[in-house]
Parts: sequence; C-alpha cells; structure tokens
Amino acid sequence: MTTLDLFGGSEPGEPERLGSQAVILRRFATPYVPELLPAISGIEAHSPFRHMVTPGGFTMSVALTNCGHLGWITDRRGYRYSELDPQSGQPWPNMPAVFQRLARDAAAEAGFVGFEPDACLINRYLPGARMSLHQDRNEIDFTAPIVSVSLGATATFLFGGQERSDKVVRTPLYHGDVVVWGGEDRMRFHGVAPLKDQPPHPLLGRQRINFTFRKAGVAYTCAHSP
Ligand code: SIN
Ligand code: FE2
Repeated sequence: MTTLDLFGGSEPGEPERLGSQAVILRRFATPYVPELLPAISGIEAHSPFRHMVTPGGFTMSVALTNCGHLGWITDRRGYRYSELDPQSGQPWPNMPAVFQRLARDAAAEAGFVGFEPDACLINRYLPGARMSLHQDRNEIDFTAPIVSVSLGATATFLFGGQERSDKVVRTPLYHGDVVVWGGEDRMRFHGVAPLKDQPPHPLLGRQRINFTFRKAGVAYTCAHSP
C-alpha cells in the first residue's frame, strides 16, 4: 500500500475548477500538516471547540473555534464576527504563522495574490455532522476570497450557485485539499454533506477538521438597524 492509498484520494496535480474563480487544490496543505496539527492543539487549549446555537435555536452539529483577530460566532442574536471568544471573554488565539502562510500561498496559487486573512474559523466534524448550504456573507470585504482547508476524514463538499435553488456539485474533499473561491464565485452557496463513518484517519481518527480563512473586516457587535 502506498502512502497515497493510506490517505485516500487523488494526487496533487492541476487545480480542479469549480468555477471561473473557484478551484480545488488537491493536497496543497499536505506539506504544512506537521506544523498545523500542533498549532490546532495550541488553539484548542485556549479556545476549545464548542457547539454554538443558530439564531433559529438549533445547536450546530459541527463544533467550532477560531483564531485570528476576528472569530465567527452564532447565538440567538445572530451570526457575526467577534474579537472576543464569548466563552472566555478573551481575544481569540493569534493566527499561527503557518496558518497565515498556508492561506496566503493557497490564495496566490488560485490567483488571489496578497491575501491576508484576519479571521480563521476552525470547524470539527464527527460522523453525522454536516453544514447546510449557506453563503459566507458576514464579512465586510467580499473582494477577498475564502480559503478552506480540509484535514482528516473525507467529506462530501457541496458547491452550488448564487441562488440557493441552483444546481449543486458534489465533490469529495480529502486530507490536505484546499478549496479557494473568490471574485465572481465569492457568494456561491456551499455546504458539507453529513460526514460518513469511515476507517479512522491515521492522524485525526474519525474527525474532519476544516479551517476557512476570511478577510472579515472590521468587527461589529450589533446588527445595524435602518
Ligand atoms: C464552511 O463553509 O464554513 C465550512 C466548509 C467545510 O467544512 O468544508
Ligand atoms: Fe461557509
């Protein structure tokens, strides 16, 4: 069995296009993994993964934490970015240098040079966890792309169009894959199908860890009312 068999999926190669400004960079994150995993443990020790509640009152199946200046949160008051971890009242952990490097390098590979994220949402999926179709629209600056890194268990990524009802492409995301979408594809609906139970990943067991890097802009704490 080769190493690739062990980790499952395809080899690094040509970017796979999901749109004119959306690509999958297969295995792009693999060389960064030895530095990424200890960095995640450091973040988790400070701001643990937790299940947040949506404005509609549902508890998310995905557990999340953040690093960087801004962290994405949700509660009964809405979806938003916050400079503070609501659980600790403290700032989120700093974004580790290896995270910044990976985000910048992957964005550049996809054609978005000079990407400097100020927010990184870290999602943890266990079997059965899913992320329903949504747009990333809590950021202030839509000119910056979203850079999404997958580690551990294989997931089925759903990538739709500009409207919720548009056709959805389903594609597996393997350990080390990076998806970048920006420009005219920045507002495409996307999500993750319920994670299947599968043989444990050698490094991460039954879990899938995803981070999405964003340029979230200026923090705001209350909804703007006209
Ligand atoms: C997200 O859209 O925040 C997560 C996407 C993923 O887990 O691949
Ligand atoms: Fe998203």
